[in-house]
Amino acid sequence: MEYHLGCIECKKTFHDDSLYTCPSCNGLLEVAVDVGNADFKLDGKEIKVWKYRSLLPIRIEPITLFEGGTPLYSIRSDKETKLFVKHEGLNPSGSFKDRGMTVGITKAVELGKTRVVCASTGNTSASMAMYSARAGLKAYVFLPSGKVALGKLAQAIMHGAKVIAVRGNFDTALRIVREICSRNDIYLLNSVNPFRLEGQKTIAFEIVDQLGYCPDAIYVPVGNAGNISAIFKGFKELKEAGYIDFIPRMIGVQAEGANPIFRAFSEGKNRITPVGNPETIATAIRIGSPVNARKALKAIYSSDGKVIQVSDDEIVRAQKILAKQGIGVEPASASSFAGFMKDYEEFESAVCIATGNLLKDPEEAVRVSEKPIEVEPDLEIIEKLL
Ligand code: F0G
Repeated sequence: MEYHLGCIECKKTFHDDSLYTCPSCNGLLEVAVDVGNADFKLDGKEIKVWKYRSLLPIRIEPITLFEGGTPLYSIRSDKETKLFVKHEGLNPSGSFKDRGMTVGITKAVELGKTRVVCASTGNTSASMAMYSARAGLKAYVFLPSGKVALGKLAQAIMHGAKVIAVRGNFDTALRIVREICSRNDIYLLNSVNPFRLEGQKTIAFEIVDQLGYCPDAIYVPVGNAGNISAIFKGFKELKEAGYIDFIPRMIGVQAEGANPIFRAFSEGKNRITPVGNPETIATAIRIGSPVNARKALKAIYSSDGKVIQVSDDEIVRAQKILAKQGIGVEPASASSFAGFMKDYEEFESAVCIATGNLLKDPEEAVRVSEKPIEVEPDLEIIEKLL
């Protein structure tokens, strides 16, 4: 597999896989793969991350838990657009992070690393803990204290990661983790790592593989802004390789209380101003200073996309509508559908990415739902309730 790393800012190229950012200008790096190598058919068969191996920059046998191949559900709504939800919550650890992690952890092993680390709002840590356990690596996760949903914390702990709860938000935790990696031989698995995003670009491949055509728009919840960048890259490669004729409009959705990308887009800027104290019920995207903002804004502008912000109430409403169609997602995941409904634009077809499973945040689900009715075990009383 031929590939190299390229800086998105100064355009210098590198052949050192252990880099996270550009050694010359500190810009974000992107993996440039040769799309001429693509050898898969988008025929709707055997869909999973490693089906697309010919475009994944890995040289050894992958560490895999059989991620990807998540269902694409059609959604009933009163709108004209043919709408689908891609349920990434049905990946092995319950979120889309597994796509990036199978590639990221495999890269760690390929580079001979024995220790891996991430800062996380929860899902990255759950996924990294799971895949490191599979690979036999030591995992360290840094979480914003008190702000991580219970299911995610349970996963990180149970899969044997050392969990450090930082008194501060995600942005602070990530700053510390990046500092740690610059001084120690511990492999960084946040989405600043360009190999993680390579795994996540397979969402784009799968959508076209499943639909048999390219949809007009993709709605993506945006936190650290890696996933929307990755999905855009996936569509770009499909177009370059001749599988599709156009790239869908990339539509980012942020929570009102954690909206730096929305603000930058609204002002026509291509750099963000960090939001100091991000706050939202959707803790997964409670991020004020997204590291991949530059990549995400490029993806949004160059695909003629946009950014929508949604309130916590709109997120919960969307979560409940999806739940009533049999699709159980955590709050951040519902933001893509909330964005679709809030700022409706008529597309022939669109896909909302649902990023994580309902069970990730059981406490929120219980809090916003009707409470169970407690009764005596008396048939007469119970039948009156039905
Ligand atoms: N949805 C969920 C459920 C997430 O966990 C995340 C990110 C996102 C959306 C946003 O994706 O960061 O690529 O823009 N969670 C990270 C984490 C930050 O640590 O688990 P993004």
